[in-house]
Amino acid sequence: MKVLVTGGAGFIGSNLVRLLLAEAPELEITNFDKLTYAGNLENLADLPRSRRYRFLRGDVADARAVDRAFARGFDAVIHLAAETHVDRSLEDAAPFLRTNVLGTEVLLDAARRHGAARFLHISTDEVYGSAPPDASFDEAAPLRPSSPYAASKAAADLLVMSHVHSFGAPAIILRCTNNYGPYQFPEKLIPLMIANALEDRPLPVYGDGLQARDWIHVEDYCRAILAALRRGRAGEVYNVSAGRPRTNLEVIRGLLALLGKPESLIAFVEDRPGHDRRYALDSRKFRKELGWEPRRTFEEGLAATAQWNRANADWIERCRSGAYRTYYKRHYTDRRKTLARWRAS
Ligand code: NAD
Ligand code: TYD
Repeated sequence: MKVLVTGGAGFIGSNLVRLLLAEAPELEITNFDKLTYAGNLENLADLPRSRRYRFLRGDVADARAVDRAFARGFDAVIHLAAETHVDRSLEDAAPFLRTNVLGTEVLLDAARRHGAARFLHISTDEVYGSAPPDASFDEAAPLRPSSPYAASKAAADLLVMSHVHSFGAPAIILRCTNNYGPYQFPEKLIPLMIANALEDRPLPVYGDGLQARDWIHVEDYCRAILAALRRGRAGEVYNVSAGRPRTNLEVIRGLLALLGKPESLIAFVEDRPGHDRRYALDSRKFRKELGWEPRRTFEEGLAATAQWNRANADWIERCRSGAYRTYYKRHYTDRRKTLARWRAS
């Protein structure tokens, strides 16, 4: 089975490519990735040489490049490529619309014309918006995205559903909660806090830090993606989660304890505009139909992730070079000024 994986040089994508090569010998994988700031071939440097893997640099929103790639004939598409950081989407939504919305339409169209038999669309819990206390969303919950990132992912989900409805596209939508683990770009909460703590720099906590996220280890999620590829039902939406939301402060305190750093490093900063308070998903449908369960406890996974980041300080340092420093200065060092400018404009 020939599979096109988009965004395979990013965080989840690189973990997925590694898992598919190791555990799915029936698959031949083409990794199609634009290599934006978040895409990094170093994430795949340890892959064994394999005739079952090739890399193609390209943009999912470029219809001609996508069409050329599809000429190789794919049986399935796993679509992960996206702009993924909420804070960046608040600053400039244009790349999110181009990649996440237009790029998804380009891929759906190419998959239909070239007769791909399966289209796995990698969506997010953020399309549902903030969950009320003590409740979790199932797949029937309405889409109420809060940020431009979430809105672009919801738009992509609606496009996928429209292709299912209009053309009988053999598509499946997976909506997963926040992932963590190796190779996560250090703009996201967990790797950012580890990197700062290791350097004894302040840990910028937005607002009161009591927002909750339902963390899942990336290897558990990648096993879920493989299960959906093999056994998911076309036309269905599945939520995937570990099912235990925790507050950001709980996570950060856990990390500080693991790293042997003091809680005095915690620095409360001005909140993210429109910040969703709580994400929580009911994933019983996926667990029951696909027979999947997460294997890692959060405590184990967090300890392994802290250890991975500590052992790969040079990888983090290279991610944080150049444009990342300008981004960090704008979002953290000059946070008040930056947010005031957004409000005024
Ligand atoms: P990431 O930002 O680490 O990686 C995104 C990858 O997509 C990068 O390799 C980048 O180069 C590539 N890319 C971006 N624009 C592209 C384009 N126009 N054409 C081709 N490639 C392009 O993202 P991630 O965290 O690995 O997320 C992967 C997917 O999973 C996304 O669709 C995201 O919405 C979804 N998701 C992520 C999480 C999470 O917690 N990380 C949770 C739920 C859903
Ligand atoms: P993030 O990793 O950006 O994922 P998302 O917003 O898509 O869930 O953030 C996770 C949580 O951590 C979210 O509530 C925002 C918060 N956060 C901080 O408090 N400080 C930070 O520097 C970052 C990046 C996130």
